Amino acid sequence: MMFQLTLTNLAAMLAFSPAVLGFTTPCIYQGYTCGYTMIATYGYNNTELTTAVNKTSIIPPLADTQLLQVLYRCVDTNGTIAGNSLCIAGCISMNSTTLDDQCAL
Ligand SMILES: *[C@@H]1O[C@H](CO)[C@@H](O)[C@H](O)[C@H]1NC(C)=O
Ligand SMILES: *[C@@H]1O[C@H](CO)[C@@H](O)[C@H](O)[C@H]1NC(C)=O
Ligand SMILES: *[C@@H]1O[C@H](CO)[C@@H](O)[C@H](O)[C@H]1NC(C)=O
Ligand SMILES: *[C@@H]1O[C@H](CO)[C@@H](O)[C@H](O)[C@H]1NC(C)=O
Repeated sequence: MMFQLTLTNLAAMLAFSPAVLGFTTPCIYQGYTCGYTMIATYGYNNTELTTAVNKTSIIPPLADTQLLQVLYRCVDTNGTIAGNSLCIAGCISMNSTTLDDQCAL
């Protein structure tokens, strides 16, 4: 029963996902997430992370490895992300859908 419900929701989600987006799971609206979690957990790709970083004026263009250490903010319910800050000392994933990830201090 639970399993069926989950599959139905997933099918509904996939059906409404815009085809142009590369991610598999939209980010959590208003959440902050590390680049490496964006890729590993949500299925975003480097191009999408680069685009988000390029749209900011505070974060300069970055190498692929640096993209992973950027904190991204989820700006809508459709999975659009914006670069929030480059974590110089590394990004810390909270491994949680309710807690925001953070830059290491
Ligand atoms: C990344 O996602 C974009 C859509 O946002 C897609 O056009 C592109 O082909 C993807 N790139 C890779 C390397 O998968
Ligand atoms: C991001 O900006 C860099 C430097 O201006 C550029 O080389 C790169 O093509 C841009 N990438 C995307 C995905 O917008
Ligand atoms: C999300 O996508 C839908 C369909 O493309 C669009 O109508 C809606 O305005 C988008 N919402 C946001 C917050 O961008
Ligand atoms: C999240 O998981 C990673 C990998 O298992 C671990 O290294 C990290 O310490 C965890 N983060 C927290 C805040 O527990």
